[in-house]
Amino acid sequence: MSLPLSMLAAAPADLDLEVAAGEMPAAIGGEIFVSAPDPATPGDYRLFGEGLVFRLSLAPGTHGAGEGRYAWRHRRIDTPSVRLRDKRPAAFAPGPTGMMSSYGAPNLANTAPLPWGERMFVTWDVGRPLEIDPVTLEFVAEVGHKDQWGSFLPGLLPFVFSTAHPVVDPERGCMWTVRQLPSEMAPRMVMQPWVVRWGGEGPDIDMWPVENARVPGMMHTITQTRDWLLLAESGMFRPDAGEIAGQDRSVTNDAAATVYLVRKDLLDQTPPGQAVVAEEFVVAPEFGHYYARYDDTDGIEVIFEHQELMDLGLKIRPQDRDLLGRPVDLPGFYGQGMAPAAASVISFDPESGKQNDIAVLRDPDRYWNLQLSTMDWSAEGQSAPTLHHIVMHGYRPQTITQRALALYEDRVDRSILGDEETPARLISVERDGLGLVGDHEYAVEDLPTSPTFVPRDPGAAGRSRYAGSDPGGHDGWVVVPVLRDAGFHVDVFDAARAGDGPVCTLAAPAGAQVPLLLHSAWMPSAGSAPDADRLRFADEATDEALTALPDDLAAAAREVRSDLDARQA
Ligand SMILES: [Fe+2]
Repeated sequence: MSLPLSMLAAAPADLDLEVAAGEMPAAIGGEIFVSAPDPATPGDYRLFGEGLVFRLSLAPGTHGAGEGRYAWRHRRIDTPSVRLRDKRPAAFAPGPTGMMSSYGAPNLANTAPLPWGERMFVTWDVGRPLEIDPVTLEFVAEVGHKDQWGSFLPGLLPFVFSTAHPVVDPERGCMWTVRQLPSEMAPRMVMQPWVVRWGGEGPDIDMWPVENARVPGMMHTITQTRDWLLLAESGMFRPDAGEIAGQDRSVTNDAAATVYLVRKDLLDQTPPGQAVVAEEFVVAPEFGHYYARYDDTDGIEVIFEHQELMDLGLKIRPQDRDLLGRPVDLPGFYGQGMAPAAASVISFDPESGKQNDIAVLRDPDRYWNLQLSTMDWSAEGQSAPTLHHIVMHGYRPQTITQRALALYEDRVDRSILGDEETPARLISVERDGLGLVGDHEYAVEDLPTSPTFVPRDPGAAGRSRYAGSDPGGHDGWVVVPVLRDAGFHVDVFDAARAGDGPVCTLAAPAGAQVPLLLHSAWMPSAGSAPDADRLRFADEATDEALTALPDDLAAAAREVRSDLDARQA
């Protein structure tokens, strides 16, 4: 079996990458940030590691790299949670939704980097977004006071169901995200989503409950147009109240999800705290990520990346057997798709309530396990996207467990699940019609991770800082970190010609390996976190709040408060 086993154990390291093939485009530049869970975190699910952040510099010889080499740098983000665990490890233990502790729910912050101008945030689904310093990669501050978010459980560290993909509004100058409050626990957990708005400064957030929305799982992604926010449950990660109580997992993905459209004007006009009503649409099969075209002049148009029968809540256990009855070799990884991948473009008309399927991409021979994608995230690129670049992991029977097959017995078509694994691919499709523009097939032992679009000529005359001279996603490069037991490498593709293969490959020295990587994002340059009015840990870890803790734990919290105060002052 050939997926890289090293991804579940490799220790993160700073590496100076070297050109191993081709030539690095002279015009490429900027910094790529990648989020990842730290494999060293205790627990049996590798998606629940404490947040690491990596930064790849696309200019050679910078950030300490030798001449002609490219700095791949990392840091374990020193959040209050991490600092507390370092001081009192016995107060922390792995749980079914990530680490839990006597302090409350640690913010693992391991899923996605989110640039906002000169600032960089990192996210995950069970915690607040938090800001890091783009240069040092150190923790800077969390977003929104914990008492405003409200916590599902008491504690200094709040238990917050949010989204790993907030959006930055290019015109309103705010961050939109969500929180979900459990409204029912049995027979299954159901949550009510609230829209969250943060202006970028200070500890205050505004929130509105979406009156008609009830969802059984995580809203992993939200997306926006100029006038609308779109919120949807991603079918593929559901908390299981039974599992939280120590029983076997019984919750499954739904085959469809409701998409809630909330008009931004309605939020502007509604006092925070008062309910808003969303327009509802239903999309199938289940999907993880979805991205709207920002310009909604001609209607709301969204690309959905379907992940049918891929259940991220169903981790692979050491005693599991795979599809072919073999012992599994990736315990702690997530079970991959039991159905082929698909993408679709759908338009929604909130006035008539109609939705239209504009295009579908599906090829069961080649496209399995759609994972992550990239696009031109500049305001100009989001308004008029041209190409969308997707990494698929291929069909991997060794990640389909007998337990998953039993749980999804009545929905899996066993006749299409073959014995042989198939390779991963990077494909580029037209954003509107999903026409295939590029298709690069990897070796079967390669695991390409999150692709990142890098525009050509960023900040050109008349363009925003993140936009190239010809925005949309076709003019520039797609950079793909690739995991392999034989050694980590990074492929650089011409964004318009992915099918030609990489124009350059950077390789880690001496076959160094890198742990599992999640989402990535590009930033035109990395400067120190700019001055801003930010929430301080001391605003939450007040003397009064610490009286609820045993003396020894309170003492550690005071030390963390003091250490962070020196930085956050
Ligand atoms: Fe994601």
